[in-house]
Amino acid sequence: MRLSVIGCGYVGLVTGACLAEAGHEVVCTDIDQERIAKLNAGGVPIYEEHLEQILASARKASRISYTADAGEAIRAGDAIFICVGTPPKDSGEADLSAIDNVARQIAAEARSPKLVIEKSTVPARTGLELSRALSAYSRGSDVKFRVASNPEFLREGTAVGDFFHPDRIVVGVEDPSSATELKEIYRPILEKTFRCPVHNGTCPPGNKAEFLVTTINSAELIKHASNSFLALKISYANVIADLCEKIGANVDEVTHAMGLDTRIGGQFLKAGLGYGGFCFPKDVQAFVYLSSKVGVDFEILKATERVNKQRIDRFFEKIHKALWVVKGKRVAVLGLAFKANTDDIRFSPALEVVKRLLEEGAVVQATDPEAMSRAKALFPQVNYHKDPYDVLCEADAALVCTEWDVFRKLDWDRAGKVMARKLVIDGRNLYSPQSMRDKGFEYFSFGRE
Ligand SMILES: NC(=O)c1ccc[n+]([C@@H]2O[C@H](COP(=O)([O-])OP(=O)(O)OC[C@H]3O[C@@H](n4cnc5c(N)ncnc54)[C@H](O)[C@@H]3O)[C@@H](O)[C@H]2O)c1
Repeated sequence: MRLSVIGCGYVGLVTGACLAEAGHEVVCTDIDQERIAKLNAGGVPIYEEHLEQILASARKASRISYTADAGEAIRAGDAIFICVGTPPKDSGEADLSAIDNVARQIAAEARSPKLVIEKSTVPARTGLELSRALSAYSRGSDVKFRVASNPEFLREGTAVGDFFHPDRIVVGVEDPSSATELKEIYRPILEKTFRCPVHNGTCPPGNKAEFLVTTINSAELIKHASNSFLALKISYANVIADLCEKIGANVDEVTHAMGLDTRIGGQFLKAGLGYGGFCFPKDVQAFVYLSSKVGVDFEILKATERVNKQRIDRFFEKIHKALWVVKGKRVAVLGLAFKANTDDIRFSPALEVVKRLLEEGAVVQATDPEAMSRAKALFPQVNYHKDPYDVLCEADAALVCTEWDVFRKLDWDRAGKVMARKLVIDGRNLYSPQSMRDKGFEYFSFGRE
């Protein structure tokens, strides 16, 4: 099928690349002309495992192209995926101005009927507004638009694998023909007939995705309800960690045992610095905002947010306890991305840590396998090193802020020889407290003695 993708960020680029790899003809556009130029030159503007490979393969097969001309992209596809950002306003409400801009462009540029699919995360009832906007902006034209919601559940870091092997594909529609069209778009993924880049070409058998057809309002709500629930789980584990510290229990033991209960499940029960990124913080805020707007007080979600914000305070309590005065201390920050396997630093807890360290007068040196160049633009006064052992050199303390595997596998005997003081404050509970102490380190983490 011929598809258009508007917005070439983490979601748009992965969607475009995977649907092209699955056999469709995809035209992508973005208002960021530099991004389009980079893509046209064969570059990849974000770091995501397997993405470079499938973009190259789709390009070789002439199944993907990029244009800065939105009109060209809009006219190319029978179905248009909207993948633009929906950032938070100060009030927490989702800023839908990019969606509105796209609606205006689609209405102005389309010359044939289009299925307009919201893939961006939007509050419930956005589809209704989008439908109204498309009619209003296309007044006088006889081009017909149908609107559908197809929320995206991919995770940065494993986005390509998640897109090709989803647990469920949710489509919110207003008519059966939209559901049929979306099922056709996803057929290669539902039937696993694409060349799977994640598994060397062949998909493993079993675990087929469920294709769920709902109303548009339900589809939109499913996305916010899912992300908010995962955020809530993380905050829950973090409060358990605080309790463990007071009581003298071990949060890893507690959450591991909890997670073995299939009704609970072990994922997202990890204590630490809390959640960040472009999804959880803003989606929780937007869900709280939407709920209060319709008269529902979502108290537990407000508490989720509050707990998450306090994680940085908890971390600094540990830092102050261990380092006493921060001013003038040389601090090595391990990890800048909001989580491992991505270069995304948006709403990253690590950046909040760096900001506070600088405010308190620390000499900050930092490393991250993929996110350093993005962080440099925000904090040019930090000393960046590619090699973690260089960053630890002469440091009074090491702060672990992102759970990258390279940090998990660090040789702390070697690191201890170059550090000024053998002190690790672990915001991601990566190491066993006993083994760190055996190596002669002062070691602090969340919810463990
Ligand atoms: N990042 C994730 O893990 C993830 C997962 C699921 C859903 N989502 C949702 O998907 C949406 C996009 O997220 P993202 O992380 O890909 O954002 P992003 O910031 O990486 O990408 C958005 C892109 O849209 C472009 N854009 C903005 N306005 C435009 C316009 N009018 N026309 C063309 N392009 C325009 C921007 O230049 C940018 O490249 C958000 O609503 C987000 O909540 C994100």
